[in-house]
Amino acid sequence: MEELIIRGGRRLRGELQVQGAKNSVLPILAATLLANGVVTLRNCPRLRDVETSVKILRALGCTASWDGDALTVDTSAFRDCAISDALTREMRSSVIFLGAILARCGQAACSMPGGCQLGPRPIDLHLSGLRAMGAEICERGETLRCDGCRLRGTDITLSTPSVGATENLMLAACGADGVSVISNAAREPEIVDLAQFLNACGGDVRGAGSSTVTVAGRRETHGCAYRVMPDRIAAATYLCAAASAGGDIYLRGARARDLGAVLAALRESGCDAAPDSDGIALRTPPRLKAIGPVRTAPYPGFPTDAQSVLMAALLKADGATVFEENLFESRYRHVGELRRMGADIRVFGRVAVVNGVTDLRGASVECTDLRGGAALCVAALAADGETHVSALRHLDRGYEDIRRDLSRLGADIVRVTDCESV
Ligand code: EPZ
Repeated sequence: MEELIIRGGRRLRGELQVQGAKNSVLPILAATLLANGVVTLRNCPRLRDVETSVKILRALGCTASWDGDALTVDTSAFRDCAISDALTREMRSSVIFLGAILARCGQAACSMPGGCQLGPRPIDLHLSGLRAMGAEICERGETLRCDGCRLRGTDITLSTPSVGATENLMLAACGADGVSVISNAAREPEIVDLAQFLNACGGDVRGAGSSTVTVAGRRETHGCAYRVMPDRIAAATYLCAAASAGGDIYLRGARARDLGAVLAALRESGCDAAPDSDGIALRTPPRLKAIGPVRTAPYPGFPTDAQSVLMAALLKADGATVFEENLFESRYRHVGELRRMGADIRVFGRVAVVNGVTDLRGASVECTDLRGGAALCVAALAADGETHVSALRHLDRGYEDIRRDLSRLGADIVRVTDCESV
């Protein structure tokens, strides 16, 4: 079993290049099915979820090859429209391929993505939107069979601004006759990145980043070279790591415009966050202050994906901070592990109250999910002694190399396997 061993107490300093965005490159990889030509994605992060998407593309008959951080995809030999059960289960967000496969070949099959550590992950908005475009979808047990030979553009209003549903329907709309208008669409920066990629391939997507996205279908498309946006949640993670450990860091490539709510929270805690055209500098106070209620919400609200790492950064703050998790039912699974380190956190349904303590102690803890695992690393940097973090497969889904990146900022962190740790 692999684990990270983190020895806390060191301040962080130095510069780190932020990886490409997981939650942007995953829908863009599905969108390569709509590009009539070869696509090269630069700044593509090497993550487990990206590898799974590459496996899906190859299983559909496409080719994909790496050259450094550039991933080149050729979908000209696309021949299959079904995603295997095994691959669907490897990555919950494999459902994002549904719209693209339907748009490409008029039919698609995959299994229901299932829930995950965050609670139920329904896809009712994805399916109702596809049906509104004329897709016939048969749900039999865990299997979805979709026939979308004649997708037609239509107006769709989402009951909640779902990121995945917005992306899936944008991709399906590219293959529909006529224009589709998606209202109450998600406004996340990753939606904008997807639209920019589609337009770079000859698509006609407008309004991305606003609540109303318009897609003109059946455009002549071509290949392109595209640079994936920086990962705003990875950036938030390293900003919170510095806030937790104390220090003075610079995140090259981080985009302040993607991180408004996170920077506001860190500034309220006493950090000096100074963005410039190339990145974000963060300098921390001797001790963080507790801040007002942190309520997660769709973009531009406070991102649910940064809830756990901000919580970890505030464990030793002066005062109490209230968190309200409004996106997912069970996104406090990291709390039990943080308590093992001496954190004082009480959970009441969607609300968690963090009372700042003066000390945290190293412990053996286990990642419960991707961002919960990141929170354990953030807390370990401020703990006395060694923290052993296991179940690293969760972290590897979303961080290229958290050990490498925290080491670059001066953290005392190693990644060991069983044989090494004996
Ligand atoms: C995306 O998940 C991200 N994943 C998540 O990041 C992120 O937490 C989430 O958006 C919210 O920002 C990727 O982009 C790959 P949603 P997604 O559909 O699309 C409900 C990470 O850590 N809903 O916006 O699955 C749903 O239950 C991951 O990087 C429906 O009810 O999120 C949730 O309560 C975790 N019906 C809310 O909407 C649907 O059909 C937001 O979900 C779809 C969603």
